[in-house]
Amino acid sequence: MSDLLTEYMRKQFPSLKREIAGYPIAYLDGPGGYQVPESVINTVSDYFINMNANEGSQFETAENTSMMIRNARGVFADFFNSTWDEIVFGANMTTLNFALAQALMREMTAGDRVLITEIDHEGNRGPWLQLRERGIIVEEVALDVSTCTLDMKDLREKISRKPGVVAVNYASNGVGTVSDVQEIIRMSHDVGAYTVVDAVHYAAHGPIDVRILDTDFLLCSAYKFFGPHIGVLYGKKDVLNRLHPFNLRTQHQYPPFVMETGTLHHEGIAGAAAAVEFIADIGLRFGQDSVGQTDRLKDDRRDRILAGLLVIEKYERILTEYLIETLTSRVPKVSLYGPPEGFPRTSTVSFTYDGYTADQVARYLGSLGIFVWGGHFYAIRLVERLGLLDRGGLIRIGIAPYNTRDELDRLVAALRDEEALRRFVKNIH
Ligand SMILES: Cc1ncc(COP(=O)(O)O)c(C=O)c1O
Repeated sequence: MSDLLTEYMRKQFPSLKREIAGYPIAYLDGPGGYQVPESVINTVSDYFINMNANEGSQFETAENTSMMIRNARGVFADFFNSTWDEIVFGANMTTLNFALAQALMREMTAGDRVLITEIDHEGNRGPWLQLRERGIIVEEVALDVSTCTLDMKDLREKISRKPGVVAVNYASNGVGTVSDVQEIIRMSHDVGAYTVVDAVHYAAHGPIDVRILDTDFLLCSAYKFFGPHIGVLYGKKDVLNRLHPFNLRTQHQYPPFVMETGTLHHEGIAGAAAAVEFIADIGLRFGQDSVGQTDRLKDDRRDRILAGLLVIEKYERILTEYLIETLTSRVPKVSLYGPPEGFPRTSTVSFTYDGYTADQVARYLGSLGIFVWGGHFYAIRLVERLGLLDRGGLIRIGIAPYNTRDELDRLVAALRDEEALRRFVKNIH
């Protein structure tokens, strides 16, 4: 099955045919953004050709645009297991989270507390840290540096101080750790806090169920899972109903529109829905084993999405284990940073390379057509706490369902060739 899936996937992405300096490009920077399949590209292009208009006008394309957006909310409702009116579209996760923080600020007074974490991307830290200007106390759950996981004892202690908001990462884009957000949400609700989950990194790698999580808010970005560059916010309907976000009198003052300022990114929304449909289609083609009932898959998009994500999860797990094993056994200069074996994780594998900075290694790999990112990836606090910020950060490999074992072998061979790395670094300085 895995070979058939690889073969199918490789055909869907036009960018995979590109070469650089005679090398086929291995896109191993999934956590920075996925490559985009033809179906999504065609949907975006079709929007411009057949539907391009602003909403609210009295002609066909405007009405079709509104219908397309309504349909896209339904697609994301299936993605999260919510209802359509709990789906808010925006420019990106960070911008939506700033709007959310501003709205929740109106519910708080000086001396109230917000809890964030050290494992999070700045997109789920900065919007909350700015509330310090208004006298809000913002505390941070410590990273357990030895395991690259959240320090749950510290978390319990800080939740007991009754924060009004707990903002936490589902999975770390820096080191791939998946946190027990369901348990964190339960503890947060016990003290009456609103919960905000950053699922930007996680969303590409596993199923999300906001009903089971019971979170108040959850954010993701479509460009991390085959889509265009837009952000999506899930907000529990009764909570959204209670909020007073900054907005215009010309907007509907009820969910989901209450949070959506200005003209939406129509073509991006069309493409984002097509990206979720792409995952659902993987479920239909390759996911029968995971759900067991083909008929049900045909009838129910949520089931297809779940099946697709389970197929993706399995494919990535095999490659991730292979990569970790190969790096550990074959590249002695590499030191891995990530959760311990057996701890939930994504296919994101980060490391340092003794004697070279992450920037040098990433540039060297890039010159061989192996695209990876070196640095802090905006998970700057995590990298700082690992003691790596002054040393240039981490080299990050992200495995997507279109990546192959051959690409990982190319990566490992390049890392083993220290002489070539040394020559490359000498030439660029
Ligand atoms: C875990 C995580 N959170 C938040 C963000 C920010 O998302 P956006 O670029 O949509 O603002 C990213 C982007 O890399 C991320 O990986």
